[in-house]
Amino acid sequence: MSYFIGIDTSTTATKALLMDSAGAVIAVAAHEYTYETPQPLWSEQHPALWWDATVKSIRDVLDKADVDGTAVHGIGLAGQMHGLVLLDADYNVIRPALLWNDQRTGAECDEIRARIGKERLVELTGNDALTGFTAPKILWVRNNEPENYARIAHILLPKDYVRLKLTGMLACDRAGGAGTLLFDVKSRSWSGEVAALLGIDPEWLPPTFEGSAVTSMVAGSAAELTGLRAGTPVVGGGGDQAANAVGTGAVNEGVVALSLGTSGVIFATTDTPMIEPEGRLHAFCHAVPHKWHLMGVMLSAAGSLRWYRDTVAPDIAFDDLVEAAADIGPGADGLLFLPYLTGERTPHPDPLARGAFIGLTVRHTQAHMTRAVLEGVAYGLRDSFELMKAVGLGNVKQIRISGGGTRSGLWRQILADVLQTELVTVNSTEGAAFGAAILAATGCGVFASVETACDEIIQITGSTVPGKDLAAYEIPYANYRRLYPALQDVFQQLA
Ligand code: XUL
Repeated sequence: MSYFIGIDTSTTATKALLMDSAGAVIAVAAHEYTYETPQPLWSEQHPALWWDATVKSIRDVLDKADVDGTAVHGIGLAGQMHGLVLLDADYNVIRPALLWNDQRTGAECDEIRARIGKERLVELTGNDALTGFTAPKILWVRNNEPENYARIAHILLPKDYVRLKLTGMLACDRAGGAGTLLFDVKSRSWSGEVAALLGIDPEWLPPTFEGSAVTSMVAGSAAELTGLRAGTPVVGGGGDQAANAVGTGAVNEGVVALSLGTSGVIFATTDTPMIEPEGRLHAFCHAVPHKWHLMGVMLSAAGSLRWYRDTVAPDIAFDDLVEAAADIGPGADGLLFLPYLTGERTPHPDPLARGAFIGLTVRHTQAHMTRAVLEGVAYGLRDSFELMKAVGLGNVKQIRISGGGTRSGLWRQILADVLQTELVTVNSTEGAAFGAAILAATGCGVFASVETACDEIIQITGSTVPGKDLAAYEIPYANYRRLYPALQDVFQQLA
């Protein structure tokens, strides 16, 4: 039997997943770490944490499964996107990485729009400048840490730092590259024009590869540390969202992936590069070769429910809290909730947006407030879904759901009704690490393509179809849409 390992370098842990060549998950191991917030809005992590956790997780997963490292025939990498790893000419890390959730670069985003023009930026890269993306972080280092900037010889994403340690090679997958704002998403290559306009040396950027293409082989030193065989191929892999879409089988146009974790992500595969003209949706390359995707990111999705429960009802179990909301009808008797508790990305890229309950009366109970939270998150996700439809993504047949929030039957039903589309669950719950293992097996020739691999491996296990309440959400949703524009100035003042 041959095996494949998918590695997911997330913000909170690195996970290694061992899959056999038939696509069965054999074992999973993870090692956790934390990130630092040395100043308000900052978010940093030292790359050494990722490598240390990778070595331990690979060793542990092999131990757990009692599999010899030499039986592993390929590795796939996935991980947090957008983070900036700076290396000097000898591959030394210059400073801790600036992560995807770092918000310090507001001024640099303005600088990028001023230098390139927002319209041209969206035309070239598919995206607007967002604080989380990589390019504004590079400018921040230039503007604030000239001594560090002067040492830069190479730039990597977090997952690709793991690749460097594993194989000695500088390389990047194209799904990850697309999230840097330095990538021409249509041609799937670095944008020389954007780099030149921003004064970023193109020599710093690593070669890019499709998700299932072999980038390099495990080096002798890494083989010794991990127990893997030197020479084991490592494929491009993907940013965590693209790899997660592979892990749930959302690899064909018309099938959308929705993940309801702390953040909420709605992800649509496209056969051609599609761009939202104002850059409100992320337009990235998929980890599936020669496919693209559109993505809306809500920063506090299940995170809103967690905050609400911890703050308002800390003694009530989640299930009981949510069950009580089932007795309240759609629209929560005129109560609306805005889920912008940590600012927002899609469709309002505004770190100063704030959460709110609107329409409270003395008749409203805790159950109404719970229902309003569940519905508000669904409305926010529908905002992204509507933008996708507006740019031509018609005929969405199915939404594949994952993440802790989708365990609630009531929330699933609300989402199916508000999005007016069937939601399905699939047999895999391991997300990005599983997707990375599938990309590795495909790149090593076990499957003819990522799409066939997903067809063979991933099965639908449950379905929630839109019910009779569809129309009942239309007026509340229309009112919800009016709230952000009405409150935007107030949010600025409050912040
Ligand atoms: C995607 C994004 C997050 C991070 C962290 O745009 O910002 O998914 O990759 O997981």
